[in-house]
Parts: sequence; C-alpha cells; structure tokens
Amino acid sequence: MAGQIPISGKTCLVTGASSGLGKETALGLARAGAMVLLVARDRERGEAAAAEIRQRAPAGEVELFLADLASQSQVRELAAQVLERHQRLDVLINNAAAVNSVRRVTQDGLEATVALNHIAPFLLTHLLQEQLRRAAPSRVVNVTSHVHRWVKAIPWDDLQSERAYQSAAAYNLSKLMNVLFTVELARRWARTGVSANCLHPGWPLKTGLGRESTGMSGAFDKLTKLFAASAEHGARTQLFLATSPDVGSVTGGYFVKCKPTGPSVLARDQEAAARLWQLSAAQCGLGVGVARAGHSNPLADHERTAPPTGQGGSAGGP
Ligand SMILES: NC(=O)c1ccc[n+]([C@@H]2O[C@H](COP(=O)([O-])OP(=O)(O)OC[C@H]3O[C@@H](n4cnc5c(N)ncnc54)[C@H](OP(=O)(O)O)[C@@H]3O)[C@@H](O)[C@H]2O)c1
Repeated sequence: MAGQIPISGKTCLVTGASSGLGKETALGLARAGAMVLLVARDRERGEAAAAEIRQRAPAGEVELFLADLASQSQVRELAAQVLERHQRLDVLINNAAAVNSVRRVTQDGLEATVALNHIAPFLLTHLLQEQLRRAAPSRVVNVTSHVHRWVKAIPWDDLQSERAYQSAAAYNLSKLMNVLFTVELARRWARTGVSANCLHPGWPLKTGLGRESTGMSGAFDKLTKLFAASAEHGARTQLFLATSPDVGSVTGGYFVKCKPTGPSVLARDQEAAARLWQLSAAQCGLGVGVARAGHSNPLADHERTAPPTGQGGSAGGP
C-alpha cells in the first residue's frame, strides 16, 4: 500500500482475525513484517487462519490468542495473556463484530450485540492501555460502519433491547457506539501518545457478517454478496489507519476509503459520548475507584479533558 511506514517488528493485535476483514488485516500487517497477535474465538478457525498467514506472509510473526469477546471474563483473560507475553503494543485493531438474528444475553447479563461489538473493544482497550502507552506513539483502530448513521436517537432507556429486539437496529446502535467510543477515547487519551480512529470498511463485502440472517434479509444479504468487494479490499482502510504516516498525528477521526469524513450528527454528540463512556465503564466494572492489578485506576489514569481533535492530536505512527 502506498504511503505505508515500516511496521516491521511492531506488535499489532487484531480481533476477529479468524475470517473476513480481520484475517486480511492480519495478513497485511504480517506481510509488512509485524508481529501480529490474532484473536479468535474458535481454536480450529484461529489455527487455520494463523497457518494460512504464516504461509502467505513469511516476513511476519503470528501468535494466536483465543477468547470469546462477548464474555468480559474472557476479555480480561485475553488481556492478561497478552500482557504476559508482550510489554508493548503498537497497534490495537478492534475489528470483531457480529449481527445476531435473535436476542441473546451474555453471561454478564448484556445483550450480545452490544456486548461483543461495543463493550468488548471498550474493555480490551482499557485493559491494554499500559502496553499501548509504552509503545507510544501507538494506535487504536476501531472498525465501525456507515450504518451508524441509521440510528436517529439513542434509546438510553433500552440500550439492551429488552423492550423490543431488531437485529439490524441492535447492530446499527453498536456501530454508533463504536464511533462515540472512538471520539471520547481520543479526547480522554489526547496526551498519551495513543491515537484512536475509526472507519467504515465499505459495503457490500464478501465476508461472513450477517451469516445468521434468514428470510428476506438473508436473501438480500446473499444477493449483495454476489457483487460484493473482496475482504482484502475491505481491509484497506483499517490497514491504512494502522500503518500510514499520513494519519500519524490524527486522532478522533472517522475514515471511509482511507479518507477522513464526518460521521453522523449523533456520533459527534459529546454529551452522548461521555454518557455512553460512563455507562460502559459501569457495565464492565471499570468505574472510578475500581482498580485492576498493576494499575491504579484504568479509567482515570490518562484521562484529561482536552478538545476533540478529529484531525491532529498528540498521537503519532507506530
Ligand atoms: N462486511 C461488511 O459488509 C461490513 C460493513 C461495514 C462494517 N463491517 C465491520 O467490519 C468488521 C469485520 O466484519 P467482517 O465483515 O469481517 O465479518 P466476519 O467475516 O463475520 O468476521 C467477524 C469476525 O469476528 C469474530 N467474532 C464473532 N463473534 C465473536 C466473539 N463472540 N468473540 C470473538 N470473535 C468473534 C468472527 O469469528 P468466527 O470466525 O469464529 O466467526 C470473525 O473472525 C466488523 O466490525 C463489522 O461491523 C463489515
């Protein structure tokens, strides 16, 4: 990719690396010579992806970690395992997500779409913050979607879709949360040297997303996949945000086709972003005064009020 900077020897973690965009992103990073930490929930699929990447990208190094990211205890276990093996993390790509055709509740009591698509990246990013800070300038890249625009109001009194569940509505809301999280993270971590940006990878793409869809929406999904772009094509913007010097000083941005663009009006609502942050922290036990081993307070440590940058901040390139 043009404009790439050397990422050889850097450590990059990619969630959802067993298939789709995550696997292509991991492959791209490994080809560039990075040490890539693949996170997969299924051992067989994870090992198959790792073997394929090792074979296609001998320049890189690959390590596999297993975690069902819809479970907070597994996210914590994952972070602990990563910390045990790697003191520094140059790039964290929060890519894993799912569309759930029926409402499920996780062992933490959360609706599964929000738990996997939003709470998992929120928690994992916090748990890995020391490694990211040690590697600064370092980067957090959150994979969202243009469908965040379809949310016209945040249902604050029903974020868990208890009253009514609609698969697309839950997914769209979780993708709006990805943007709000990115903007707030960039603001709070503005002085840490860790940037946070998010992206829409394009649509339609030939990946497994929406594989549970049935009926009309399943038929529509199958139809769109006939003329969809490849996963390799879809992975370009996340690879760009992970590696390009062009975004070395950018934080809090939303990117489409490797270009900064404006997210929805709702996604730019600072009050909503702050409110979601507090609720998310409470949902994963990261509230003020809640410490984790080796860290005084994962929420308060590096959070200073600074204006959102959208373009330009204190972060740099890996
Ligand atoms: N595809 C599109 O058209 C499109 C458009 C806009 C945005 N996006 C975004 O792109 C990102 C990647 O999606 P994709 O299209 O590549 O979908 P995908 O092919 O379904 O890949 C999703 C990945 O997430 C993993 N995953 C699912 N549930 C998990 C769990 N509970 N714990 C751990 N990992 C889990 C999957 O693992 P398994 O292999 O085990 O299933 C898979 O590796 C998502 O954030 C999505 O919202 C995609």
